[in-house]
Amino acid sequence: MSPADGARSLFASCFGAAPAGVWVAPGRANLMGEHTDYNGGFVLPFALGQVTAVAAAPRADRRLVLCSRQQPGLVVDAALDDLAPGAIPGWGAYPGGVAWALRAAGRKVPGASIAIDSDVPAGAGLSSSAALECATALALTELGGSGLVPRPELAAIARRAENEFVGVPSGIMDQSASLLGRAGHALLLDCRSLESCQVPFDPGSAGARLVLIDTRATHALTGGEYARRRAECEEAARLLGVPSLRAVTDPAVVDRLADPVLRRRARHVVTDDNRVLQVVALLRDPARLSGEGGEVYREIGRLLTQAHESLRDDFEVSWPEADAAVAAAVGAGAFGARMIGGGFGGSVLVLDGPGSRVRTAVSEEFARRGWTAPDFLEAIASDGARRAA
Ligand code: GLA
Repeated sequence: MSPADGARSLFASCFGAAPAGVWVAPGRANLMGEHTDYNGGFVLPFALGQVTAVAAAPRADRRLVLCSRQQPGLVVDAALDDLAPGAIPGWGAYPGGVAWALRAAGRKVPGASIAIDSDVPAGAGLSSSAALECATALALTELGGSGLVPRPELAAIARRAENEFVGVPSGIMDQSASLLGRAGHALLLDCRSLESCQVPFDPGSAGARLVLIDTRATHALTGGEYARRRAECEEAARLLGVPSLRAVTDPAVVDRLADPVLRRRARHVVTDDNRVLQVVALLRDPARLSGEGGEVYREIGRLLTQAHESLRDDFEVSWPEADAAVAAAVGAGAFGARMIGGGFGGSVLVLDGPGSRVRTAVSEEFARRGWTAPDFLEAIASDGARRAA
Protein backbone atom coordinates (compact mmCIF):
# COMPACT_ATOMS: atom_id res chain seq x y z
CA MET A 1 0.00 0.00 0.00
CA SER A 2 1.35 3.47 -0.87
CA PRO A 3 1.72 5.97 1.99
CA ALA A 4 -1.13 8.02 0.46
CA ASP A 5 -3.48 5.01 0.58
CA GLY A 6 -2.16 4.12 4.02
CA ALA A 7 -2.89 7.61 5.35
CA ARG A 8 -6.36 7.59 3.78
CA SER A 9 -7.31 4.27 5.36
CA LEU A 10 -5.79 5.23 8.73
CA PHE A 11 -7.85 8.43 8.59
CA ALA A 12 -11.02 6.41 8.10
CA SER A 13 -10.24 4.15 11.05
CA CYS A 14 -9.14 7.02 13.38
CA PHE A 15 -11.84 9.54 12.49
CA GLY A 16 -14.65 7.43 10.96
CA ALA A 17 -14.89 9.53 7.80
CA ALA A 18 -13.04 10.27 4.57
CA PRO A 19 -10.36 13.00 4.59
CA ALA A 20 -10.80 16.23 2.64
CA GLY A 21 -7.52 15.48 0.86
CA VAL A 22 -4.16 13.74 1.03
CA TRP A 23 -0.86 15.57 0.64
CA VAL A 24 2.54 13.93 0.24
CA ALA A 25 6.07 15.24 0.69
CA PRO A 26 9.30 13.34 0.00
CA GLY A 27 12.43 12.71 2.00
CA ARG A 28 15.68 13.87 0.44
CA ALA A 29 19.18 12.75 -0.37
CA ASN A 30 21.96 15.24 -0.91
CA LEU A 31 24.28 14.86 -3.86
CA MET A 32 26.76 17.45 -2.63
CA GLY A 33 27.15 20.26 -0.09
CA GLU A 34 27.00 19.03 3.50
CA HIS A 35 26.97 21.43 6.46
CA THR A 36 27.14 24.24 3.93
CA ASP A 37 23.50 25.39 4.21
CA TYR A 38 23.80 27.14 7.57
CA ASN A 39 27.04 28.70 6.33
CA GLY A 40 25.17 30.49 3.55
CA GLY A 41 26.72 28.15 0.97
CA PHE A 42 25.53 25.88 -1.82
CA VAL A 43 23.70 22.56 -1.61
CA LEU A 44 22.61 20.13 -4.32
CA PRO A 45 19.94 17.83 -2.85
CA PHE A 46 17.18 15.94 -4.63
CA ALA A 47 13.76 14.73 -3.53
CA LEU A 48 13.37 10.97 -3.09
CA GLY A 49 10.56 8.72 -4.26
CA GLN A 50 9.90 7.82 -0.62
CA VAL A 51 7.22 10.11 0.87
CA THR A 52 5.27 10.99 3.98
CA ALA A 53 1.53 11.29 3.39
CA VAL A 54 -0.87 13.39 5.43
CA ALA A 55 -4.62 12.74 5.10
CA ALA A 56 -6.48 15.67 6.61
CA ALA A 57 -9.84 17.31 7.15
CA PRO A 58 -10.77 20.54 8.92
CA ARG A 59 -12.50 20.43 12.32
CA ALA A 60 -14.67 23.02 13.99
CA ASP A 61 -13.27 22.76 17.53
CA ARG A 62 -9.89 24.44 16.81
CA ARG A 63 -7.98 21.35 17.84
CA LEU A 64 -5.20 19.53 16.07
CA VAL A 65 -5.73 15.77 16.37
CA LEU A 66 -3.01 13.54 14.93
CA CYS A 67 -2.52 9.82 14.46
CA SER A 68 0.29 8.03 12.64
CA ARG A 69 0.73 4.54 11.27
CA GLN A 70 4.33 4.68 12.49
CA GLN A 71 3.20 5.47 16.07
CA PRO A 72 0.33 3.04 16.64
CA GLY A 73 -2.03 3.94 19.45
CA LEU A 74 -0.40 7.31 20.12
CA VAL A 75 -2.93 10.03 19.36
CA VAL A 76 -1.84 13.64 19.79
CA ASP A 77 -4.56 16.14 20.63
CA ALA A 78 -3.68 19.81 21.08
CA ALA A 79 -5.58 23.09 21.17
CA LEU A 80 -4.52 25.22 18.21
CA ASP A 81 -4.63 28.43 20.20
CA ASP A 82 -2.37 27.08 22.96
CA LEU A 83 0.43 25.91 20.67
CA ALA A 84 3.83 27.13 21.86
CA PRO A 85 7.36 25.72 21.69
CA GLY A 86 7.57 22.85 24.17
CA ALA A 87 3.79 22.30 24.20
CA ILE A 88 3.88 18.98 22.30
CA PRO A 89 6.47 16.31 23.10
CA GLY A 90 7.70 13.70 20.62
CA TRP A 91 6.75 13.31 16.95
CA GLY A 92 3.62 15.47 17.24
CA ALA A 93 5.92 18.48 17.61
CA TYR A 94 6.67 18.41 13.86
CA PRO A 95 3.11 18.86 12.57
CA GLY A 96 2.20 20.92 15.66
CA GLY A 97 5.20 23.17 15.04
CA VAL A 98 4.13 23.72 11.44
CA ALA A 99 0.65 24.84 12.57
CA TRP A 100 2.32 27.19 15.06
CA ALA A 101 4.82 28.59 12.51
CA LEU A 102 2.12 29.08 9.86
CA ARG A 103 0.06 31.13 12.32
CA ALA A 104 3.16 33.10 13.34
CA ALA A 105 3.63 33.90 9.63
CA GLY A 106 0.08 35.28 9.49
CA ARG A 107 -1.46 32.33 7.66
CA LYS A 108 -4.92 31.09 8.55
CA VAL A 109 -4.78 27.64 10.15
CA PRO A 110 -7.96 25.64 10.81
CA GLY A 111 -8.41 22.94 13.43
CA ALA A 112 -7.63 19.67 11.68
CA SER A 113 -7.80 15.89 11.95
CA ILE A 114 -4.66 14.39 10.48
CA ALA A 115 -3.60 10.79 9.74
CA ILE A 116 -0.01 10.11 8.73
CA ASP A 117 1.76 7.28 6.91
CA SER A 118 5.28 7.22 5.51
CA ASP A 119 7.81 5.07 3.72
CA VAL A 120 10.70 7.43 4.47
CA PRO A 121 12.74 5.49 7.04
CA ALA A 122 13.02 7.47 10.30
CA GLY A 123 16.46 8.11 11.77
CA ALA A 124 18.17 7.22 8.47
CA GLY A 125 19.28 10.78 7.71
CA LEU A 126 16.79 11.04 4.84
CA SER A 127 14.79 13.92 6.34
CA SER A 128 11.70 12.07 7.43
CA SER A 129 11.05 15.06 9.70
CA ALA A 130 11.16 17.58 6.83
CA ALA A 131 8.82 15.30 4.84
CA LEU A 132 6.32 15.32 7.71
CA GLU A 133 6.62 19.09 8.13
CA CYS A 134 6.21 19.83 4.43
CA ALA A 135 3.23 17.50 3.89
CA THR A 136 1.54 19.08 6.93
CA ALA A 137 2.34 22.57 5.69
CA LEU A 138 0.69 21.89 2.32
CA ALA A 139 -2.36 20.29 3.96
CA LEU A 140 -2.90 23.09 6.47
CA THR A 141 -2.43 25.93 3.98
CA GLU A 142 -4.87 24.33 1.58
CA LEU A 143 -7.44 23.51 4.27
CA GLY A 144 -7.07 27.03 5.70
CA GLY A 145 -7.73 28.60 2.32
CA SER A 146 -4.34 30.35 2.34
CA GLY A 147 -4.11 29.77 -1.40
CA LEU A 148 -0.82 28.82 -2.90
CA VAL A 149 1.91 29.91 -0.52
CA PRO A 150 5.19 30.32 -2.46
CA ARG A 151 7.28 27.19 -1.84
CA PRO A 152 10.42 29.01 -0.59
CA GLU A 153 8.21 30.74 1.99
CA LEU A 154 6.69 27.42 3.05
CA ALA A 155 10.20 25.95 3.37
CA ALA A 156 11.18 28.81 5.69
CA ILE A 157 8.02 28.23 7.78
CA ALA A 158 8.69 24.48 8.06
CA ARG A 159 12.29 25.17 9.03
CA ARG A 160 11.13 27.61 11.70
CA ALA A 161 8.87 24.88 13.11
CA GLU A 162 11.88 22.56 13.37
CA ASN A 163 14.26 25.21 14.78
CA GLU A 164 11.98 26.90 17.27
CA PHE A 165 9.16 24.48 18.07
CA VAL A 166 11.02 21.16 17.94
CA GLY A 167 14.31 22.74 18.96
CA VAL A 168 16.61 21.35 16.24
CA PRO A 169 18.96 24.02 14.84
CA SER A 170 18.92 22.68 11.24
CA GLY A 171 19.46 24.68 8.04
CA ILE A 172 17.12 25.21 5.08
CA MET A 173 18.27 22.33 2.83
CA ASP A 174 15.87 19.53 3.79
CA GLN A 175 12.63 21.50 3.59
CA SER A 176 13.72 23.13 0.32
CA ALA A 177 14.48 19.76 -1.26
CA SER A 178 11.16 18.31 -0.12
CA LEU A 179 9.13 21.26 -1.42
CA LEU A 180 11.09 22.27 -4.53
CA GLY A 181 12.42 18.93 -5.83
CA ARG A 182 11.64 17.88 -9.38
CA ALA A 183 11.82 14.43 -11.00
CA GLY A 184 15.02 13.92 -12.99
CA HIS A 185 16.66 16.96 -11.40
CA ALA A 186 18.82 17.98 -8.48
CA LEU A 187 18.11 21.30 -6.80
CA LEU A 188 20.95 23.82 -6.74
CA LEU A 189 20.17 26.09 -3.82
CA ASP A 190 22.16 29.13 -2.86
CA CYS A 191 21.51 29.26 0.87
CA ARG A 192 22.62 32.91 1.09
CA SER A 193 20.26 34.42 -1.51
CA LEU A 194 17.82 31.47 -1.34
CA GLU A 195 17.76 31.47 -5.14
CA SER A 196 17.45 28.01 -6.60
CA CYS A 197 17.44 26.28 -9.95
CA GLN A 198 16.89 22.77 -11.27
CA VAL A 199 19.89 20.89 -12.65
CA PRO A 200 19.08 17.93 -14.94
CA PHE A 201 20.27 14.81 -13.17
CA ASP A 202 19.66 11.42 -14.68
CA PRO A 203 22.44 8.95 -13.86
CA GLY A 204 20.34 6.12 -15.31
CA SER A 205 20.77 7.55 -18.82
CA ALA A 206 24.52 6.90 -18.52
CA GLY A 207 24.16 3.43 -17.00
CA ALA A 208 24.90 4.74 -13.49
CA ARG A 209 22.60 4.57 -10.50
CA LEU A 210 22.31 5.88 -7.00
CA VAL A 211 21.92 3.59 -4.04
CA LEU A 212 21.31 4.62 -0.46
CA ILE A 213 22.71 2.48 2.31
CA ASP A 214 20.89 2.96 5.60
CA THR A 215 23.71 2.02 7.97
CA ARG A 216 21.14 1.44 10.74
CA ALA A 217 23.15 3.60 13.10
CA THR A 218 20.42 6.08 13.99
CA HIS A 219 21.25 9.72 14.26
CA ALA A 220 19.75 12.48 16.35
CA LEU A 221 20.33 16.09 15.39
CA THR A 222 19.11 17.21 18.78
CA GLY A 223 22.44 15.96 20.12
CA GLY A 224 24.95 18.71 20.80
CA GLU A 225 27.45 17.93 18.01
CA TYR A 226 25.44 19.55 15.20
CA ALA A 227 25.02 22.75 17.21
CA ARG A 228 28.72 22.63 18.08
CA ARG A 229 29.69 22.45 14.40
CA ARG A 230 27.49 25.45 13.68
CA ALA A 231 29.13 27.44 16.45
CA GLU A 232 32.63 26.46 15.25
CA CYS A 233 31.80 27.62 11.72
CA GLU A 234 30.48 30.94 13.02
CA GLU A 235 33.61 31.41 15.08
CA ALA A 236 35.82 30.60 12.07
CA ALA A 237 33.93 33.15 9.95
CA ARG A 238 34.27 35.78 12.67
CA LEU A 239 38.03 35.21 12.95
CA LEU A 240 38.39 35.43 9.16
CA GLY A 241 36.40 38.68 9.17
CA VAL A 242 33.62 37.44 6.85
CA PRO A 243 29.85 37.36 7.45
CA SER A 244 29.75 33.60 6.78
CA LEU A 245 32.13 30.93 5.44
CA ARG A 246 30.34 31.17 2.10
CA ALA A 247 32.30 34.35 1.49
CA VAL A 248 35.53 32.32 1.34
CA THR A 249 36.15 30.57 -1.97
CA ASP A 250 39.90 29.92 -1.82
CA PRO A 251 40.65 27.02 0.54
CA ALA A 252 44.12 28.50 1.22
CA VAL A 253 42.44 31.38 3.11
CA VAL A 254 41.46 29.05 5.96
CA ASP A 255 45.15 28.45 6.70
CA ARG A 256 45.05 31.85 8.41
CA LEU A 257 43.09 30.27 11.24
CA ALA A 258 45.52 29.44 14.05
CA ASP A 259 43.20 26.93 15.74
CA PRO A 260 43.60 23.54 14.00
CA VAL A 261 40.03 22.45 14.73
CA LEU A 262 38.49 25.63 13.33
CA ARG A 263 40.83 25.39 10.34
CA ARG A 264 39.62 21.88 9.54
CA ARG A 265 35.96 22.80 9.97
CA ALA A 266 36.31 25.82 7.68
CA ARG A 267 38.30 23.83 5.11
CA HIS A 268 35.49 21.31 4.84
CA VAL A 269 32.86 23.99 4.27
CA VAL A 270 34.92 25.90 1.69
CA THR A 271 35.94 22.80 -0.26
CA ASP A 272 32.41 21.32 -0.15
CA ASP A 273 30.95 24.57 -1.54
CA ASN A 274 33.47 24.27 -4.37
CA ARG A 275 32.54 20.62 -4.93
CA VAL A 276 28.87 21.55 -5.36
CA LEU A 277 29.80 23.94 -8.15
CA GLN A 278 32.11 21.34 -9.73
CA VAL A 279 29.31 18.76 -9.80
CA VAL A 280 26.90 21.28 -11.30
CA ALA A 281 29.44 22.20 -13.99
CA LEU A 282 29.86 18.51 -14.85
CA LEU A 283 26.10 17.94 -15.06
CA ARG A 284 25.64 21.01 -17.23
CA ASP A 285 28.30 20.16 -19.77
CA PRO A 286 26.17 18.93 -22.70
CA ALA A 287 29.15 17.77 -24.76
CA ARG A 288 30.42 15.52 -22.01
CA LEU A 289 27.02 14.23 -20.98
CA SER A 290 26.02 13.20 -24.49
CA GLY A 291 29.42 11.76 -25.38
CA GLU A 292 31.07 9.99 -22.50
CA GLY A 293 28.20 10.25 -20.00
CA GLY A 294 29.75 7.53 -17.88
CA GLU A 295 32.94 9.54 -17.48
CA VAL A 296 30.98 12.46 -15.99
CA TYR A 297 29.51 10.15 -13.36
CA ARG A 298 32.92 8.68 -12.65
CA GLU A 299 34.16 12.20 -11.93
CA ILE A 300 31.15 12.98 -9.78
CA GLY A 301 31.85 9.72 -7.95
CA ARG A 302 35.42 10.82 -7.22
CA LEU A 303 34.07 14.10 -5.81
CA LEU A 304 31.63 12.17 -3.61
CA THR A 305 34.43 10.11 -2.09
CA GLN A 306 36.54 13.25 -1.61
CA ALA A 307 33.59 14.84 0.18
CA HIS A 308 33.33 11.82 2.45
CA GLU A 309 36.99 12.11 3.40
CA SER A 310 36.46 15.80 4.14
CA LEU A 311 33.40 15.05 6.32
CA ARG A 312 35.32 12.29 8.08
CA ASP A 313 38.70 13.97 8.63
CA ASP A 314 38.00 17.72 8.62
CA PHE A 315 34.41 18.08 9.78
CA GLU A 316 34.50 14.90 11.89
CA VAL A 317 30.83 14.00 11.58
CA SER A 318 31.22 10.54 10.05
CA TRP A 319 30.65 7.29 11.95
CA PRO A 320 32.30 3.84 11.71
CA GLU A 321 29.50 2.16 9.73
CA ALA A 322 29.57 4.98 7.16
CA ASP A 323 33.35 4.81 6.74
CA ALA A 324 33.18 1.03 6.31
CA ALA A 325 30.28 1.28 3.83
CA VAL A 326 32.11 3.87 1.71
CA ALA A 327 35.33 1.83 1.69
CA ALA A 328 33.51 -1.41 0.81
CA ALA A 329 31.41 0.27 -1.92
CA VAL A 330 34.40 1.92 -3.58
CA GLY A 331 36.41 -1.29 -3.19
CA ALA A 332 33.63 -3.16 -5.01
CA GLY A 333 33.81 -0.82 -7.99
CA ALA A 334 31.36 2.00 -7.21
CA PHE A 335 32.21 5.38 -8.83
CA GLY A 336 32.13 6.98 -5.38
CA ALA A 337 30.25 7.21 -2.10
CA ARG A 338 29.78 9.44 0.90
CA MET A 339 27.79 9.87 4.08
CA ILE A 340 24.88 12.28 3.70
CA GLY A 341 23.03 14.56 6.10
CA GLY A 342 24.06 15.85 9.48
CA GLY A 343 26.21 12.84 10.42
CA PHE A 344 26.79 10.58 13.44
CA GLY A 345 24.42 8.02 11.94
CA GLY A 346 22.10 7.67 8.99
CA SER A 347 22.81 6.87 5.35
CA VAL A 348 25.54 6.65 2.75
CA LEU A 349 24.89 7.62 -0.87
CA VAL A 350 26.64 5.46 -3.46
CA LEU A 351 27.05 6.37 -7.11
CA ASP A 352 27.32 3.00 -8.71
CA GLY A 353 28.24 1.78 -12.16
CA PRO A 354 26.85 -1.17 -14.06
CA GLY A 355 27.40 -4.67 -12.73
CA SER A 356 29.10 -3.73 -9.46
CA ARG A 357 28.99 -5.83 -6.31
CA VAL A 358 28.30 -3.01 -3.86
CA ARG A 359 25.39 -4.64 -2.12
CA THR A 360 27.15 -7.91 -1.47
CA ALA A 361 30.44 -6.26 -0.50
CA VAL A 362 28.83 -3.87 2.00
CA SER A 363 26.58 -6.57 3.49
CA GLU A 364 29.56 -8.90 3.91
CA GLU A 365 31.63 -6.19 5.57
CA PHE A 366 28.83 -5.39 8.05
CA ALA A 367 28.38 -9.10 8.83
CA ARG A 368 32.14 -9.54 9.30
CA ARG A 369 32.11 -6.74 11.87
CA GLY A 370 29.03 -8.10 13.63
CA TRP A 371 26.92 -5.00 12.82
CA THR A 372 23.17 -4.94 12.13
CA ALA A 373 22.63 -5.66 8.42
CA PRO A 374 22.29 -2.44 6.42
CA ASP A 375 19.24 -1.59 4.28
CA PHE A 376 19.55 -0.67 0.62
CA LEU A 377 17.21 1.78 -1.11
CA GLU A 378 17.12 2.93 -4.71
CA ALA A 379 17.51 6.74 -4.79
CA ILE A 380 15.63 8.28 -7.70
CA ALA A 381 15.32 12.04 -8.13
CA SER A 382 11.57 12.58 -7.81
CA ASP A 383 8.95 15.30 -7.59
CA GLY A 384 8.58 17.46 -4.50
CA ALA A 385 5.55 17.85 -2.22
CA ARG A 386 2.11 17.74 -3.83
CA ARG A 387 -1.51 16.90 -3.34
CA ALA A 388 -2.05 13.19 -3.99
CA ALA A 389 -4.58 12.16 -6.61
C1 GLA B 1 20.81 18.11 8.47
C2 GLA B 1 20.17 19.49 8.53
C3 GLA B 1 20.42 20.26 7.23
C4 GLA B 1 21.92 20.27 6.89
C5 GLA B 1 22.49 18.85 6.97
C6 GLA B 1 23.98 18.84 6.77
O1 GLA B 1 20.19 17.33 7.49
O2 GLA B 1 18.79 19.37 8.72
O3 GLA B 1 19.93 21.57 7.34
O4 GLA B 1 22.61 21.16 7.72
O5 GLA B 1 22.20 18.24 8.21
O6 GLA B 1 24.29 19.23 5.48
